Amino acid sequence: MIQMILLSVTCLLILSGEVYGAPKKRKTYSELKSCDLGNLAEEIASYDTVVKDIIDYAVTGPFKGKTYNELAKFVDKFGPRPSGSQVLEDSIDYMIELTREEDIKDIITEEVKVPHWSRGEEKLTMLEPRVKDIALLGLGMSVSTPPDGITAEVIVIRNFTELENIGENNIKGKIVLYDPVFITYGKTVAYRSQGASKAAAKGAIASLVRSIAPFSINSPHTGMQTYEKNVTKIPTAAITLEDADLIRRIITRGEKVVLKLEMTSSYDDKVSRNTIIDLKGRERSDSLVIVSGHIDSWDVGQGAMDDGGGLFISWAVPVILQRLSLRPKRTVRTIFWTAEEVGLVGAYAYEKQHRNESNNINFIMESDEGTFAPLGLAVGGNQEARCIIAEILKLFQSINASTLIEEDSPGSDITVITSKGVPGASLYNDNSEYFWFHHTEGDTMNVEDEQELDQGTAFWTAVAYIIADISVDIPR
Ligand SMILES: *[C@@H]1O[C@H](CO)[C@@H](O)[C@H](O)[C@H]1NC(C)=O
Ligand SMILES: *[C@@H]1O[C@H](CO)[C@@H](O)[C@H](O)[C@H]1NC(C)=O
Ligand SMILES: *[C@@H]1O[C@H](CO)[C@@H](O)[C@H](O)[C@H]1NC(C)=O
Ligand SMILES: *[C@@H]1O[C@H](CO)[C@@H](O)[C@H](O)[C@H]1NC(C)=O
Repeated sequence: MIQMILLSVTCLLILSGEVYGAPKKRKTYSELKSCDLGNLAEEIASYDTVVKDIIDYAVTGPFKGKTYNELAKFVDKFGPRPSGSQVLEDSIDYMIELTREEDIKDIITEEVKVPHWSRGEEKLTMLEPRVKDIALLGLGMSVSTPPDGITAEVIVIRNFTELENIGENNIKGKIVLYDPVFITYGKTVAYRSQGASKAAAKGAIASLVRSIAPFSINSPHTGMQTYEKNVTKIPTAAITLEDADLIRRIITRGEKVVLKLEMTSSYDDKVSRNTIIDLKGRERSDSLVIVSGHIDSWDVGQGAMDDGGGLFISWAVPVILQRLSLRPKRTVRTIFWTAEEVGLVGAYAYEKQHRNESNNINFIMESDEGTFAPLGLAVGGNQEARCIIAEILKLFQSINASTLIEEDSPGSDITVITSKGVPGASLYNDNSEYFWFHHTEGDTMNVEDEQELDQGTAFWTAVAYIIADISVDIPR
């Protein structure tokens, strides 16, 4: 009998799920049917010593502080690593070298054609009712304004229903400002990802969006958006919560707001690489347990949180197992995805190239929602799979990381693979402040905590080890 941990996730209905992300279903109440694992429960319990060894090694032993320090060196050296940039490629080479220094030899890269959208000059000025500079960040793939910019009156729209019901004459020739109430990232992000196309369809000449965030110190949050094929591509950008509120208040008082928007950007295709690091299994090397994070980032901040932390706890898994001479039965594969931010491009390429091997993926894990204190895993798969993972999580009570939550579609990149029926999980962590910093200049090392990263590294390594070593495959 497994007593599942029940959890209210009302405050945790958030996810990083990027780009096209439809809101994901995360059950607020988890009541797994009791499952009788028989001898397997005892087998799993017998990993308590190795779990303790890994936790000691990462949290108080030789690896203490290593994840934080290596992450800091990396993001301080390279800064942001946008898709298609040379700095992203240099950072991939650096990670390969860092891994080789650990005497890990099974490293390959696979080329991927990726979009390279590059931000130029951006300026937004309120001209009426008073002159004020407004902080902005253009959204991914946004087109430029004409050289003289776009000067127009603003109309504030709360939601898409309001947009649909409004007469075209009220929108034509104007700048639409979407000012949605932040519910969850997954629910509210549609105003960023689809807003420009929907506004253009109604005749708007530019669109702005209140940053998709619950909190702000005057920081705009960028992110991906896509133009539908059948509409005019209009320039589009995010502004801060403060300025969205200001503009709405002024307009509500019956005054007219006129803005001047100037933006430039360029676009071409480039070649990037997914990075694949294998710690070959000692018995069933064709069976894979994958841990992963993405190496690209937005072009602001340092990409420390999104997704430097996920990158480095996934890097640490084969490194620690190698250092401790722990070689599980199955192969532990670390993947550094490229070009996640611009549409899970690396993950789609990997899935396509390895489709003939997808039966070999026993379990796939991703960390892309912060690496704050680990709490457990958000697990997708059938109930039998969840029972086994829940039993494994019981071994992490000493670091408070024993919670399993049910997630239909865990992760961001890995949804490309779990949607094919492969069981998987994303790191469930204490990330209630994640969207304060997400896709902003504020995504720096200051958001990261050394001890929490150590715990994340320990957790990620030990979970991957056990799943790769137990006698049974994760059922699907
Ligand atoms: C959409 O916005 C309008 C105008 O502010 C409001 O009356 C309506 O309740 C909103 N609808 C939803 C579904 O939030
Ligand atoms: C463009 O196509 C989408 C579906 O692909 C449709 O929902 C939308 O109404 C179309 N817009 C226009 C302006 O035709
Ligand atoms: C799958 O396809 C790739 C590339 O086409 C090839 O390198 C690999 O050997 C194939 N794997 C299997 C298990 O057939
Ligand atoms: C785990 O939670 C307990 C109770 O909240 C707390 O006292 C303890 O310090 C936590 N342990 C860790 C490693 O965070």
